[in-house]
Amino acid sequence: MSQPFTESELPLLLEAAKIQARVRELAAEISRDYQDSTLHLVGVLKGAWIFLADLTRYLSVPCTVDFLAIQSYGANAVSSGEVKITKDLDLGIEGRDVLIVEDILDTGRTCHYLLDVLSARSPRSLKLVTLLDKPAHRIVPVRADYSGFEIPDVFVVGYGLDFDQRYRHLPDVHYIPHAGVPKAP
Ligand code: IMP
Ligand code: MG
Repeated sequence: MSQPFTESELPLLLEAAKIQARVRELAAEISRDYQDSTLHLVGVLKGAWIFLADLTRYLSVPCTVDFLAIQSYGANAVSSGEVKITKDLDLGIEGRDVLIVEDILDTGRTCHYLLDVLSARSPRSLKLVTLLDKPAHRIVPVRADYSGFEIPDVFVVGYGLDFDQRYRHLPDVHYIPHAGVPKAP
């Protein structure tokens, strides 16, 4: 993208109020499921940071939080197909009830990899919550235990999600016009 879009040029997909209402519902569902344990949230940087911040404040069960970072998209909205951890967790997860918090499930490669790597560290349980799910783009079969919204095959930004590091701060979720670029398998 040589000329970045101004914020007003980005069509709206999900309004902030709708996102907040759904995050509250997810938090209620998760709180019910983890009543008898201390939930350990693992946020995937950077995209999930705002979602995780809102989710934790709506939870009614105690929780602890850690982060890891994975290699993310470059400037062209097309996945490289390669996933690697660029910042690992600070805390061990053995024996903990771990919930991975992701911004979006797209090809499924990132979450498939994370579920694999983290399950090898012997957590007591391991589940996945994603705010957004693009099932039409799935290459690796992964299912989220909790999912906020199914969205069409468009490249979205805002509420933590970026395009070339831009637009993360926007409170609504928008999409990039003409950037619904299919990924190479
Ligand atoms: P996956 O490995 O293809 O499932 O992609 C997961 C990661 O790619 C997400 O955690 C996001 O960081 C990024 N991603 C996928 N789709 C989008 C999008 O539409 N907008 C912004 N980031 C995206
Ligand atoms: Mg992400």
